[in-house]
Amino acid sequence: MHEGRTYIVTGAASGIGAQTAKVLKAQGARVIGVDRNEAADVDQFFKADLSDPASIDGLIAALPDGVNGLANIAGVPPTAPAAVVMRVNLYGLQRLTYGLIPKLADGASIVNLGSLAGFGWPNSVAQSKAALALTLEDDVDGFCDAQGLNDDDTGRNYFLSKEALIIWTMQNRWTWRDRAITMNCVSPGPVDTPILSDFVQTLGERAEEDMKVMDRPGTPQDVAPVVSFALSEHAKWFRGANLTVDGGMSSHILSNIHQF
Ligand SMILES: NC(=O)c1ccc[n+]([C@@H]2O[C@H](COP(=O)([O-])OP(=O)(O)OC[C@H]3O[C@@H](n4cnc5c(N)ncnc54)[C@H](O)[C@@H]3O)[C@@H](O)[C@H]2O)c1
Repeated sequence: MHEGRTYIVTGAASGIGAQTAKVLKAQGARVIGVDRNEAADVDQFFKADLSDPASIDGLIAALPDGVNGLANIAGVPPTAPAAVVMRVNLYGLQRLTYGLIPKLADGASIVNLGSLAGFGWPNSVAQSKAALALTLEDDVDGFCDAQGLNDDDTGRNYFLSKEALIIWTMQNRWTWRDRAITMNCVSPGPVDTPILSDFVQTLGERAEEDMKVMDRPGTPQDVAPVVSFALSEHAKWFRGANLTVDGGMSSHILSNIHQF
């Protein structure tokens, strides 16, 4: 499916990113992995801290031209400090993406790892717009303080990072249409990776309730093929979309809200 194509996968050292790199390679792609930790199963690896502007800019300069897609998978859970969550999950991702646009091949696909945690974006539009007004070089700590994210132990930092990411993806549905570059989101429900316990720790009873409703948590193997599809030429008419891969959780929440 991906013969002759090259993709950049961030977060390639663990979980969903590592599995995505594996699937893409098995499907014929050349994979460039990016992570703060060494990634094993990739063709080329670049170490970078995706919360740090200088590290991201160095990475952009080092990456090759003509890449066919970017999978923005690196992320941190809500147990990290709020500003770190916002920097890695949103602002660093944006800086890398904007910086890479001139280097991507025409027709490239950008896929952002959202989350079921971003499902509530329609109820947080004002806060998401405020978040999206910042960049990685702005006062993210000050923003998190002003929004009460540092005093919040409900995971609001993580939820906001994913809500804003889904909104930003929609905003960019046609930004690079002249070059046929697409951007979409893939939003998993709870996935059994090293950070699942962080979600359970932060969300407490809410996570336990979710787990009871689901037949099982997802696995990286459930999610990676969806990212692969979203990167592929088969997905070229998806633009600004949010592909949910959550064992039915978002349908379940909507069915409850609307009493279907
Ligand atoms: N696991 C879940 O339940 C779940 C659910 C929905 C969405 N997601 C999202 O999926 C993505 C992947 O998460 P995962 O579950 O595979 O977790 P993971 O911890 O297994 O993988 C995350 C990777 O991101 C890398 N990373 C984190 N901060 C970084 C930084 N500053 N610079 C460079 N690399 C950095 C880590 O080193 C790690 O390899 C994240 O965006 C996460 O928010 C996860």
